[in-house]
Amino acid sequence: MRASVLEAIHALPAPLNEAMLEIAKAPQFDATISADAFDSLKSLSGLSDADLRVALLPVAAAYSVAPISTFYVGAIARGNSGRLYFGANMEFEGVQLNQSVHAEQSAISHAWIKGETSLKDITINYSPCGHCRQFMNELNGAEHLEVQLPQREAQSLHSYLPEPFGPSDLGINEPLLAAKSHGLSAEDTCPLTNAAILAANMSHAPYTNNFCGVAIRDKSGQIFSGMYAENAAFNPSLPPLQVALIAMNLADVAQKEIEEVMLVENANSSISYLQDTQGMLEALNPDIPLSYLAI
Ligand code: THU
Ligand code: ZN
Repeated sequence: MRASVLEAIHALPAPLNEAMLEIAKAPQFDATISADAFDSLKSLSGLSDADLRVALLPVAAAYSVAPISTFYVGAIARGNSGRLYFGANMEFEGVQLNQSVHAEQSAISHAWIKGETSLKDITINYSPCGHCRQFMNELNGAEHLEVQLPQREAQSLHSYLPEPFGPSDLGINEPLLAAKSHGLSAEDTCPLTNAAILAANMSHAPYTNNFCGVAIRDKSGQIFSGMYAENAAFNPSLPPLQVALIAMNLADVAQKEIEEVMLVENANSSISYLQDTQGMLEALNPDIPLSYLAI
C-alpha cells in the first residue's frame, strides 16, 4: 500500500480507521469495498450510507497522481452489484493537459474494468466539472445516477447537467458500461494481445467504430487492460491507454513498472489511437515498446 493511502486511512475517525486498515491490508484488496464490507463499516461507524462514502473520500483521493496541479480529487463509484470502486485524478507531465484523467473517470472506469454494467451513485470530494458531467451522461442508467458531494443532499446527474446533450442526440442508444462484444479476434496471439483484444471488444465507440483496447504488461508479468470510452461530445472521450493506466494506478503499481504495451484497434474506422498512444508512451518513458495490431 502506498504511503498516501496508509496516511489517509490512519487519519479516518476511529473506529473507521482500524476497520478500513484491516480491509486495505488484506492481500486481495484492490481499491474496492464489497457491499458486505461496506455494511459492516456502516454499522461499526454509525454513519449513514452517504456520510460513510464521504468519510472514505480521502482514501480514494490518496490514489491521486497529480504532479502538475497537486490538487487531489477522489471519487467513489458504486456499481449495481453494491461494490464501491475508488478513483482519483491522474496528470501526466510532458503531454497536453487533455490527457489528464479526472477522478470521476477513474472511479467509473475502475467499476467498468471489474465488470460493472451500470452504477448506482458516485461520491466526489469536489463538484464535478462540466467535462465529467458530460462524461457521466454517457453512462448506462445516466438518468438515474445520483451524485453525492460532501455537505450536500444527493442530487441526480441531470440536476447537475440540465438540458443534457447526449448519445440520443446522435441517434445512439448504446450506453457506456453496458456489456458488449464487437467480435474482434485474431489467430496465434499471446496473452498481452489477447488482453488488448478483449478490451477492444468491450470498448464503447459508437461514434467512430474505433473499437480499441490497450494492455500493459508490468515488470512482474501482471497485465492491465484498458478499453476506449467514447463520448457523444467527442472531447470528453477517454483513451484506452488512460483506462489501462487507471487500472495500474489503482492496483498500486507505479508507471515506472511498465515493461511493454499493446494497442489493438479496429482497422475499419474513421480515427486511430496509434499516434496518441505513441505520444503518451513517449512522454511516460521513451524506452517502453509499443506493439500494434489493427484487425
Ligand atoms: N479534476 C477532477 O479530477 N475532477 C473534476 O471534475 C475537477 C477537476 C482534476 C483534474 C486535474 O487533475 C485537477 O483536478 C485540476 O483540474
Ligand atoms: Zn472533471
